[in-house]
Amino acid sequence: MKTPIFAANWKMHFGPQETRAFLTRFLALGPPTHDRTVIFFPPAVSIAVAGFALREHPEILVGVQSVHWEDKGAFTGEVSAVMARDSGAKVALVGHSERRQLFGVTDEMTARQCAAVGRAGLVPMLCVGERLDERDRGATLPVVLRQLKTGVSRLSPAQIASMAVAYEPVWAIGTGRTARPEDASVVHTAVRRALRDMIGGGADSVPILYGGSVNVETAPSLLAAAEVNGLLVGGASLDPDAWARIVCT
Ligand code: 13P
Repeated sequence: MKTPIFAANWKMHFGPQETRAFLTRFLALGPPTHDRTVIFFPPAVSIAVAGFALREHPEILVGVQSVHWEDKGAFTGEVSAVMARDSGAKVALVGHSERRQLFGVTDEMTARQCAAVGRAGLVPMLCVGERLDERDRGATLPVVLRQLKTGVSRLSPAQIASMAVAYEPVWAIGTGRTARPEDASVVHTAVRRALRDMIGGGADSVPILYGGSVNVETAPSLLAAAEVNGLLVGGASLDPDAWARIVCT
């Protein structure tokens, strides 16, 4: 597996000015960025500013939190993958649980979004994860694998081989409850196996990130767990000092 990935999902935080201030502070802390992949997912209106603030650090990537599945059209409030690319995004989150739970995104929509992201030449980072009631009734793997299989259903094997997956159990997001590393490994291993069933050896290059209440304390053990290739962090990525410490993991 490639170098570990540290991805910051800022959700609806940080407009252009705050983005500039955050990244100035973060870069001043001098975190290691050459032997690991660091990705920022700012709000869409801040993507271009983030790219500019990071212009001397092309190794640090900027991504978009969500895109529509069409390239353009009468879809008020939406942005397309093509537009995100034009703003400097290289990666796109697809199917984050907040999009699924609060904005009605379905598995089929994630398939169309992944296809649009791939078409635009961006890397889709497909988010999967079970709710607490699904975990409690033992449905974690069926739910995650259904989300995975449908989400990638419109991608070619080559596109799947160059995508990323983020396992984010819904019950761990923003709750302070983190999955135990061994529990994350069980799911990550099942995701890897499912990807191998789909595309064979190419599956081994797909990074599988863990997300859900990751912080400075929990990051090392999660990152050390089997098949955990990176971290997708919400709350703890909103403080440049804390985020720099996590990137140092
Ligand atoms: P928290 O780290 O705030 O739990 O958020 C996780 C997440 O949703 C990242 O995409």
